[in-house]
Amino acid sequence: MANNVFEWTPQLDIGVNNMNHQHQVLIDYMNKLFQDNEEKKPKTVIVQSAKKLQDYTIRHFKEEETYLASINYPGLDTHKLVHKNLLQQLDGHIKDFQASGETLPSTFFDFLKFWLKAHIMGVDKKYGDFANKKAS
Ligand SMILES: [Fe+2]
Repeated sequence: MANNVFEWTPQLDIGVNNMNHQHQVLIDYMNKLFQDNEEKKPKTVIVQSAKKLQDYTIRHFKEEETYLASINYPGLDTHKLVHKNLLQQLDGHIKDFQASGETLPSTFFDFLKFWLKAHIMGVDKKYGDFANKKAS
């Protein structure tokens, strides 16, 4: 097994266990997709891995939004918009790939890296801080 490109590090710790766990699963799906792409697996296999990542993302975002509603998070509406935007981008990338090309371009994986950095480290961390402040 090659080194994983996407790694869960303490920097991604948002302070909410359940969501940390889901982010780790998300990273596993990202790595699987990267690996299939790197090994130049048949396009159908890569598309399948991309769809698994997409399905899990949809599920995770929904659960995250339900959680944010349960703690009365004031930034929920904005957070939902950010999720919607990420899902649209992900869907666009997958559709582009399905329409052309045999492997996913590096720009696609740059997008995933950006997602982890900007979204989880930035936007998600804010609700983690909010939740922990509330609990203390
Ligand atoms: Fe989020």
